[in-house]
Amino acid sequence: MHSAGRVVIRASGVHRAFGGVSVLRGVSFSVSAGELVTLSGPSGSGKTALLSLLCGFDFPDAGTVLPGSASWSACAVLPQSLGLASELTLEENVALPLRLAGRPVAGVAELLAELGIAGLGARYPGQVSFGQQQRAALARAVVARPAALLADEPTAHLDAASAVAAVSVLRRVADDGAAVLIATHHEAVHEVADRVLVLADGRID
Ligand SMILES: Nc1ncnc2c1ncn2[C@@H]1O[C@H](COP(=O)(O)OP(=O)(O)OP(=O)(O)O)[C@@H](O)[C@H]1O
Ligand SMILES: [Mg+2]
Repeated sequence: MHSAGRVVIRASGVHRAFGGVSVLRGVSFSVSAGELVTLSGPSGSGKTALLSLLCGFDFPDAGTVLPGSASWSACAVLPQSLGLASELTLEENVALPLRLAGRPVAGVAELLAELGIAGLGARYPGQVSFGQQQRAALARAVVARPAALLADEPTAHLDAASAVAAVSVLRRVADDGAAVLIATHHEAVHEVADRVLVLADGRID
């Protein structure tokens, strides 16, 4: 369906243990530009741990990852914990990646509207629901058109209609040329994926 682009996200033989418990035991896979790949696996299987390694929040005990430090600036993260800045409005949160990059602030209102939170841009995260925060965090992750997007359970707090809007934004980001990796338990997200990876017993087979 999509032409194979260059590899943007990759894990090669990645191992990671916490407190002597081995969570990732030789994980290898790649995601190319233009691809949307989902990562499934039971709660506690290591999906978040793997995303943390890929975006440089954590480091593997063995093995290598891309993006890697040279291209982290082109990598956007939508963490499971969302991580919106509580002292900024939703609009300001979404604009932040553009401001930090010294780029013109554009496309913020359109994204908020597409995700059904157009009227909430002037509110602070503490003044909106968790699902509304999640949609703002998605907007923030995609607004600067990253080359790589790592999204952890991006529809976890959304109703069906909001999830459809979120999935359509994620699919478009990949169609526009980004490599997109999404950890999710939701079938609606797997359905738009080019490939589904299953993390089980610390490996992706
Ligand atoms: N920093 C850490 N210190 C200690 N243990 C950790 C750490 N990070 C993850 N773990 C452990 O590693 C395992 C995998 O956790 P992880 O958060 O990656 O699971 P997950 O697949 O994302 O689950 P969920 O679907 O619930 O989000 C768990 O047993 C967790 O307790
Ligand atoms: Mg997780």
